[in-house]
Amino acid sequence: MSAQKKVKVGIIGGGLMGRELLALVGRWDALLDHPVRPVITAIADTSDAVREFFTNAGISESYSDYKELLASPNVDVVYIAVPHNLHEEIYIAAINAGKDFLGEKPFGIDLAAAEKIEAALVGKKNFVRVSSELPFFPGAQAAIREARSGNLGEIVEVRSGLLHSSDIDRKKKINWKRQRKFCGDIGVLGDLGMHAAHIPLRLGYKPTKVFAILDDIVTNRENAAGENVACDTFDNAVLAMRAANPGNSREFPMFWEMKRIAPGESNTFFFSAIGMTGGVRFSTKNPAVYHTFALRNGEQVWSEIQPGHVSNWPVITGHIFEFGFPDALLQMWAAYFAEREGKLGDKFACASVPEVVDSHRTFAAAMKSHETHTEVAL
Ligand SMILES: NC(=O)c1ccc[n+]([C@@H]2O[C@H](COP(=O)([O-])OP(=O)(O)OC[C@H]3O[C@@H](n4cnc5c(N)ncnc54)[C@H](O)[C@@H]3O)[C@@H](O)[C@H]2O)c1
Repeated sequence: MSAQKKVKVGIIGGGLMGRELLALVGRWDALLDHPVRPVITAIADTSDAVREFFTNAGISESYSDYKELLASPNVDVVYIAVPHNLHEEIYIAAINAGKDFLGEKPFGIDLAAAEKIEAALVGKKNFVRVSSELPFFPGAQAAIREARSGNLGEIVEVRSGLLHSSDIDRKKKINWKRQRKFCGDIGVLGDLGMHAAHIPLRLGYKPTKVFAILDDIVTNRENAAGENVACDTFDNAVLAMRAANPGNSREFPMFWEMKRIAPGESNTFFFSAIGMTGGVRFSTKNPAVYHTFALRNGEQVWSEIQPGHVSNWPVITGHIFEFGFPDALLQMWAAYFAEREGKLGDKFACASVPEVVDSHRTFAAAMKSHETHTEVAL
């Protein structure tokens, strides 16, 4: 194996997602022949407890002000995982500091913020990608290959989404994800929308019109002090769209579902595309398999396939073992660092800035549809 290039990584926002990066870097040797070895060198977080967690893990540079991390010569790449109201400010600061970064979705609290971040990148050399790990599941990758194969024929319908039930308990204390001022007017569209949008947009399925049903189910929650406060973001969203595809003359129906209250679902990411001659579906609810559809001798046949632990970037893990969420994150970061070195080849790349801005355009149109109760053209 050729020598790995050491890349120094700083994390801004060491909460739920920031800690995942710390842990996965500890598993980096699971990857075979990767050109890069990331090393976490710095953490920036306003929370003392979070910084202490990273200090205990041996991370020596620790800042309460993210600007100090961006000024550090010990940081080549930044992972930015902070609440949505901070994306615009911190992403643009990272761009102006000349840092490469992987930014968490939704990449700006709304379309205007995402467009400002995109505009700040014009003429700059920063290598910037957007976090979206679930399409890296082997079954999702197989589904993407099947959709690209042409086996589907004329597309009849596409569905994708992310369903969980983190908010099903009305007694759960409120946090930033349930408040507009932090999470944005678009609510769950921003929080979970990129999960639904990533594969369809990568396949070139372009929403042209959208009708949205946005639902705010739990309107009040207690805060940590026991006070009753407004829980004013949308919990659930269903978008019914018409979509264009270069391979189809007819626009086809496409449905994106994003739900924080989906009884029965823990963290279900799904994608399905069905056409006149073939189809494919994958869901993390049953992650060891994916299904393909075909017409055989006049019969309609769904086949179940177990892809095994066959990842985009090869790993030490035996192919018969199960693949899970941390493995998908590892694959996403493997793709980020390999692409940054120009060594990704034809492997699936992380979500791009134009893709996430396109997702925001759909969400902005969905908001308009919700307000006017009409189908809105993009
Ligand atoms: N890709 C995924 O699957 C996935 C999953 C969950 C969340 N996310 C995204 O990750 C981002 C963070 O979400 P989370 O769940 O990790 O949230 P979190 O609340 O667990 O963590 C956010 C962290 O940011 C810190 N922070 C707040 N203000 C800061 C500032 N000014 N400077 C530095 N740090 C600051 C907080 O103290 C906290 O530790 C969001 O954009 C969210 O949409 C992505």
